[in-house]
Amino acid sequence: MAKLINGKEISAKVKAEVYGETIKLKEQGITVGLAVIIVGNDAASRVYVNSKKKACEEVGFNSYEYALDENVTQQELLDLVDVLNNDDKVNGILVQLPLPNHIDENTIINSISPDKDVDAFHPFNVGKIMIGDFAFLPCTPSGVMELIDSTGVDISGKSAVVVGRSNIVGKPMSMLLLHKNATVTICHSRTINLAEICKTADIIVAAVGRANFITDSMVKEGAIVIDVGMNRLENGKLCGDVDFETVSKKAGYITPVPGGVGPMTIAMLMKNTLTAAKLGSNE
Ligand code: GUN
Repeated sequence: MAKLINGKEISAKVKAEVYGETIKLKEQGITVGLAVIIVGNDAASRVYVNSKKKACEEVGFNSYEYALDENVTQQELLDLVDVLNNDDKVNGILVQLPLPNHIDENTIINSISPDKDVDAFHPFNVGKIMIGDFAFLPCTPSGVMELIDSTGVDISGKSAVVVGRSNIVGKPMSMLLLHKNATVTICHSRTINLAEICKTADIIVAAVGRANFITDSMVKEGAIVIDVGMNRLENGKLCGDVDFETVSKKAGYITPVPGGVGPMTIAMLMKNTLTAAKLGSNE
């Protein structure tokens, strides 16, 4: 039976560290601030934004929410980002994705000052990650790395398979694993022999967005299995990309959903915002 990797517990430790540093900054007269922009009425986005605001309270940050109407124009959104780029109270800016179809996500991401880009989505920060010289790491992949580190398993030279190639998770995830000297394979919807490739993995990171996609026949005995998926079933239950029931009997370590990667993403966002504040205060 696999050991459970407890994301709730590990994220609480990360947030406690951030809180400690936040107190020190407060003593120097610096209060950390995160601006969160949400556009429209997407229910999942609202849940995420609420969790991010709650985490800000826990670690002693100010949070500034901008809830914009579904019909806001791209220019109005760009104008708001510009104001926040120039607001000293705001150390980090997060535009919750997805945005409505009439707004071009890349244009908005590119308008965020790279120094305040706590999601690490701006091409400047993406490039820095590629060459291994970064201030911010994208929140979900860096949270996954913390979870893998918590197992104590040395991943250098091991075989890691990332299932999914999104800009938010799959691509940066592969880079972080590569920086730690894993031998990385990226699988996606067009991959031939996906099951066989997964079966060779010492570490599987599943980020496909399909409920229970990774089954025990695709997993090597003793592997570390990290589930980034967050799928809502018809009965309203949350479930990951990994078939927990069967895979947990075969893997060495596994993350649950919920309570695995989700809380880590938010904790790493707090860490990035703290980093932004520290870098900003050194200017
Ligand atoms: N939508 C889903 N995940 C994320 C994330 O990590 N950051 C932002 N800004 N939007 C998201």
